[in-house]
Amino acid sequence: MLGKAPGLGADMVFLDLEDSVAPLEKEAARDNVVKAINEQDWGDTVLCVRVNAWDTKWTYRDVIHVVENASERLDELMLPKVQSAAEVVALDLLLTQIEETTGRTSRVGIEAQIETTRGLINVEEICAASDRTETIIFGPADFAASMEMPVLTAGVQVPEYPGDHFHYVFSKILMAGRANGLQVIDGPFLKIRELDALREYAMRTRVLGYDGKWALHPDQVTVINEVYTPTQEQFDRAHDILEAYRTATEQDRRGAVMFGDEMIDEASRKMALKFVARGERAGMTRSSSSA
Ligand code: GLV
Ligand code: MG
Repeated sequence: MLGKAPGLGADMVFLDLEDSVAPLEKEAARDNVVKAINEQDWGDTVLCVRVNAWDTKWTYRDVIHVVENASERLDELMLPKVQSAAEVVALDLLLTQIEETTGRTSRVGIEAQIETTRGLINVEEICAASDRTETIIFGPADFAASMEMPVLTAGVQVPEYPGDHFHYVFSKILMAGRANGLQVIDGPFLKIRELDALREYAMRTRVLGYDGKWALHPDQVTVINEVYTPTQEQFDRAHDILEAYRTATEQDRRGAVMFGDEMIDEASRKMALKFVARGERAGMTRSSSSA
């Protein structure tokens, strides 16, 4: 799995020390992760390690062992089951000391998972706790367990619920993340073989504004990249809006103009910029017919 990870087309990969590692393997897993970071070619993939949560006995050694021994190719640590801002601050302080001791030149970033009821209640303070934090992530499996929801598969649609049972959670995390300039990521979809259901479910957080979603299997990467990348039509339209708005403001000195049969203004520019940025990140180029 570690060997295959860099070539799967994911923007970011995290190597896990937490819930996918059995308690008896926790210590050995640290060396496997360090070896994979130091010996594999990760290209431009953002590289992260998920350490164990602060309510276990493993966190401090995970952090010290991995950050002291991994090369600077390690970009970030992911902290799961974050319950309070203090947990992020504790990780930040520990990282600061390790960086000073080892002479690491680049700072290790933090990704925080919101997957407990207390974490959701405190999500605003958690997002603002450290300038190392780059990303906030929703963890539907642990969250369902923490809520004591009567479900046995998490991160999928609950047909008995009239609407989206996680709508409030998705929106609350997204708002807290955006208010602090963070990337916001949706967690796993556990039914690995059901790619159509994944596509449909992922569309919910994509439409709300999430930046992406976890993949648990190579087949999921393709679907997820497709869902969270703008369509060519959206990408072209965003460019057209920017162009029309630029002409309106810079040549005609007007702040609101008609674009086809709708009005555009400064807010339209901001919306369009996001499509362009996401598309460019995915390697898209503008169709020549719309230029
Ligand atoms: C991910 O860690 C989850 O609990 O959904
Ligand atoms: Mg979890």
